[in-house]
Amino acid sequence: MAGVLVSMCFCFWIILCIHVTSLVLAQEGDQFVYYNFSKADLHIDGIATTRDGPLHLTNKTARRTGHAFHKLPMNFTDSSYSFSTEFIVAIFQYQGDNQGMAFVVSPTTDLRYGGTETYGLGLFNKTNDGKSENHILAVELDTNQNPEAFDESSNHVGIDINSIASVESANASYFNATEGKNKTMLLGSGNHILIWIEYDGSEKLLNVTLAPVPTPKPVSALMSSSIKPSVPLLSRSINLSAIFNETMVVGFSGSTGIFSSDQFILGWSFKKGGKAESLDLSKISDPAFQRSPPISRPSSLAPLFLAIYLFAIPGIIFVVLGVIWYICKRKKYAEVLEQWEQEYIPQRYSFKKLYKATKGFKESQLLGAGGFGKVYKGELRSDNLMQTVDSKLEGNFDAGEAELLLKLGMLCSQSSPEDRPSMRQIVHYLEGIASIPDISFVKAGFGMSNISKETVTEMTATSSSANFSFEDVTVLFGGR
Ligand SMILES: *[C@@H]1O[C@H](CO)[C@@H](O)[C@H](O)[C@H]1NC(C)=O
Ligand SMILES: *[C@@H]1O[C@H](CO)[C@@H](O)[C@H](O)[C@H]1NC(C)=O
Ligand SMILES: *[C@@H]1O[C@H](CO)[C@@H](O)[C@H](O)[C@H]1NC(C)=O
Ligand SMILES: *[C@@H]1O[C@H](CO)[C@@H](O)[C@H](O)[C@H]1NC(C)=O
Ligand SMILES: *[C@@H]1O[C@H](CO)[C@@H](O)[C@H](O)[C@H]1NC(C)=O
Ligand SMILES: *[C@@H]1O[C@H](CO)[C@@H](O)[C@H](O)[C@H]1NC(C)=O
Ligand SMILES: *[C@@H]1O[C@H](CO)[C@@H](O)[C@H](O)[C@H]1NC(C)=O
Ligand SMILES: *[C@@H]1O[C@H](CO)[C@@H](O)[C@H](O)[C@H]1NC(C)=O
Ligand SMILES: *[C@@H]1O[C@H](CO)[C@@H](O)[C@H](O)[C@H]1NC(C)=O
Ligand SMILES: *[C@@H]1O[C@H](CO)[C@@H](O)[C@H](O)[C@H]1NC(C)=O
Repeated sequence: MAGVLVSMCFCFWIILCIHVTSLVLAQEGDQFVYYNFSKADLHIDGIATTRDGPLHLTNKTARRTGHAFHKLPMNFTDSSYSFSTEFIVAIFQYQGDNQGMAFVVSPTTDLRYGGTETYGLGLFNKTNDGKSENHILAVELDTNQNPEAFDESSNHVGIDINSIASVESANASYFNATEGKNKTMLLGSGNHILIWIEYDGSEKLLNVTLAPVPTPKPVSALMSSSIKPSVPLLSRSINLSAIFNETMVVGFSGSTGIFSSDQFILGWSFKKGGKAESLDLSKISDPAFQRSPPISRPSSLAPLFLAIYLFAIPGIIFVVLGVIWYICKRKKYAEVLEQWEQEYIPQRYSFKKLYKATKGFKESQLLGAGGFGKVYKGELRSDNLMQTVDSKLEGNFDAGEAELLLKLGMLCSQSSPEDRPSMRQIVHYLEGIASIPDISFVKAGFGMSNISKETVTEMTATSSSANFSFEDVTVLFGGR
């Protein structure tokens, strides 16, 4: 009985031990993956920030440095110097060459005084540059051609040991197996770039490989290992045991120099003593920041662009609706001008005017239809009788006489003969002895007594009211 209890306790103790050990291993920080740095265990200084998610190493402030190190130190002993890491950077270079940034393995997290603002990627200054006491290994993404560092271009990747002058470097490019050749890539373009750094402690070989992150961002899981080029950009034999201190920290350093740049780390995976976990490219988020790059552009334009965005869309909708409305209206009043109508243009009434006068050829305005078409009652508000005078007279007439004759003409053309004035009455009207009477429009008819409901073409007659008054216009219109 006691033996069983003892062995049970022993088992429990072993399980507890394994559990505690694994916790400690994790705490040593030998292995980690970050997609969002805001809660990562980092030591940060300078202008670096992780507030928004990505590690924002440097921003548009010129002549500044930024550092970020994984806080927990790692034990590098003779048993294993192997490590591997991969990360995604986005560097926005705004004006001319700026400094650049680097992945760093350093004995200390405090590099605040190590670099100067315009020299050495925030790692080295002119006093300590090249000294073996630095114990620093760095892989630089250099966007500046510094003659003192013998840089080969303003777009290169280099391996630095205790000095800004690289032991090995190459223009930034990646090997595309499909095309079978190296393709140049711009480090400062703002595009997402994947970088693998691998060190094999037994072979003492350090490899650096680059590749562009596919755009647009993959929607489903895509592991970085699937796009890793088969040929590294840099491969260099290095004895890290001669360089490293026993405990080291890993992280990033960047500086802006005379010209500013935004430098981001968007994802980071690290493992000491083995292969780092592949990054899932669909989990990488774009850096959220105000790009507005060129410094020459006045920032006061930003509200203007916002205003344009705010008002442009409703404005466009408004204009489109306006155009549609105009086209519909045009269509509604569209008319065909026939050859024979040309000579009557001065006396002609537009379809639009007729449409309005007859309230849109309403059934209630219909007087009847005959062999020549339908006849509608219409009203021309602003027009007067004098408009109907033949324009060929060009105004060479007496207005009073013209009006008198027009009224007489209409009186004489009423449909029922008994309504028409006698010759005697006409003479009286002409001599001014009697004044012309008002006539009933309903009765008048104007020579259309045989109106029926059959329709050939549309014709329109106008008057202001049923009780016809000569102050208003009464005309027959030849329609379409
Ligand atoms: C850069 O970052 C620092 C520290 O976070 C901040 O004080 C400064 O205003 C930033 N500059 C720009 C231009 O965003
Ligand atoms: C990163 O995490 C912080 C805190 O949980 C959160 O507020 C932020 O939105 C995250 N950022 C991204 C890009 O997921
Ligand atoms: C590193 O390893 C050595 C020997 O293996 C050990 O004595 C030391 O405590 C370790 N340091 C840390 C920080 O784990
Ligand atoms: C590195 O190790 C040496 C001795 O091995 C020590 O003197 C030095 O202070 C260490 N450097 C740092 C930055 O810890
Ligand atoms: C250079 O860096 C070293 C080490 O960080 C520091 O002690 C020294 O003060 C720096 N010198 C200058 C001129 O900044
Ligand atoms: C690197 O780029 C620079 C400038 O673009 C060019 O002059 C130089 O020849 C390139 N070096 C190699 C090795 O291709
Ligand atoms: C390699 O080149 C091929 C052909 O131009 C292209 O389709 C492919 O996307 C390239 N691969 C990478 C990783 O750029
Ligand atoms: C480094 O690259 C070389 C040459 O391509 C390769 O043979 C070696 O296995 C690589 N080492 C690592 C650790 O990736
Ligand atoms: C591509 O670049 C690598 C590393 O710089 C080099 O070893 C290789 O020869 C280059 N390949 C071609 C086809 O240029
Ligand atoms: C690497 O450096 C260590 C320490 O300086 C030395 O003991 C060892 O022999 C070196 N290994 C090789 C392969 O050069």
